[in-house]
Amino acid sequence: MKRFVLTIMALVAVAAVFAADPPRVKTKCGPWVVGVTDTEMTVVWTSTDRCMGWVEIAPDDGTSFYAEERPRYDEDFMGRHVVSDVHHVRITGLKPGTTYRYRIYQQGVDDSGHNPIPSGYISASDVYSRKPYAIRTMDFGKADCTFTMINDIHGRDSMMLALTKDIRSEKPDFVVFNGDMVSFMGSTEDIEKGFMTRATETFATDFPLVYVRGNHETRGPGFSEYLNLFPSTTNAPYFMFRQGPAAFIVLDSGEDKPDSDIEYGGTAAYDAYREAMAAWLKEAIQSEEFRAAPVKIVLLHIPFAKGTGWYGNNELKRLLLPLLNEAGVDVMLSGHNHRYSYLEKGDADNNFPILVNSNNDRVKVHATKEQIVMEVLDATGKMIHKHTVKVQ
Ligand SMILES: [Fe+2]
Repeated sequence: MKRFVLTIMALVAVAAVFAADPPRVKTKCGPWVVGVTDTEMTVVWTSTDRCMGWVEIAPDDGTSFYAEERPRYDEDFMGRHVVSDVHHVRITGLKPGTTYRYRIYQQGVDDSGHNPIPSGYISASDVYSRKPYAIRTMDFGKADCTFTMINDIHGRDSMMLALTKDIRSEKPDFVVFNGDMVSFMGSTEDIEKGFMTRATETFATDFPLVYVRGNHETRGPGFSEYLNLFPSTTNAPYFMFRQGPAAFIVLDSGEDKPDSDIEYGGTAAYDAYREAMAAWLKEAIQSEEFRAAPVKIVLLHIPFAKGTGWYGNNELKRLLLPLLNEAGVDVMLSGHNHRYSYLEKGDADNNFPILVNSNNDRVKVHATKEQIVMEVLDATGKMIHKHTVKVQ
């Protein structure tokens, strides 16, 4: 009996120790890097439990990451380090056109009581047996701009792999996801399993990601996680950035039917949203950053239609197209239709051509201040369409 009691007491003591020990947290998915400008970037990843996350940065100078203590960047909000299972650490004060190596860290914290209890266990990305992750900042002085765009993957991560397998050898300035990467925003896990885990394994740790929201990313209970996972410089899914000679306007299609449609169950409010985006666009195209760029490219998931299309499309056309026509846009890149098309100037009242990419191909773009060359490549890497647009 005495032995039994001692055993029970030992088990209780062990259980108490484990109960007091905050979780040993590891990276679940990521990192990926968004909001890259010439001086800033945001590193994002998810972890297996709530924890604090931070990033260390090192120059790409051939030294060991362990050569010295590296500067640390925390995710701070209202005076506290954030404790979450999604992390986005904004790093500022970088130099243009410069490659930075980075390392992500996380440490479990039990913050359920008055006094948060940090775990002694800290996990970090490997900088010893593999090369550290690295990202190159944008550079407005660069003579050209290169990127690859895919869209409408709808969770088919094997197709995404086929379309992005050459990214590391091609070394584009960034990669564009032009919407509908998943069919439904159920949870963060849907994003991870649908494409982000594979994207991270393939390229996303080392190439800036530009995400254009599609209409399917507006659907599901996890829709509001979008900016949590893919934060932007404007805290909205529409924003602007520069690389080399090009300025990019990223716009959000919203939904495609009237807000009152039964499909949205009374939850849609895109009329006001599109108006707000148009007001932002009006300001953006008048900015010096945009006007000074020799090349002007628009990224919008749903293309403008010839004649009359669905309600959402018609509203985008009414609100955005006159502004874009006045702004001297050189080309717009879209998806959504699941088939390739190329709208010449004037086909849809547009003053610029519109390339619509299918769901099974990618667009490889090379822009200089003289021209924009767009190659549409299939999953085997074969070029199936090519367009060269002279810069206006
Ligand atoms: Fe779509």
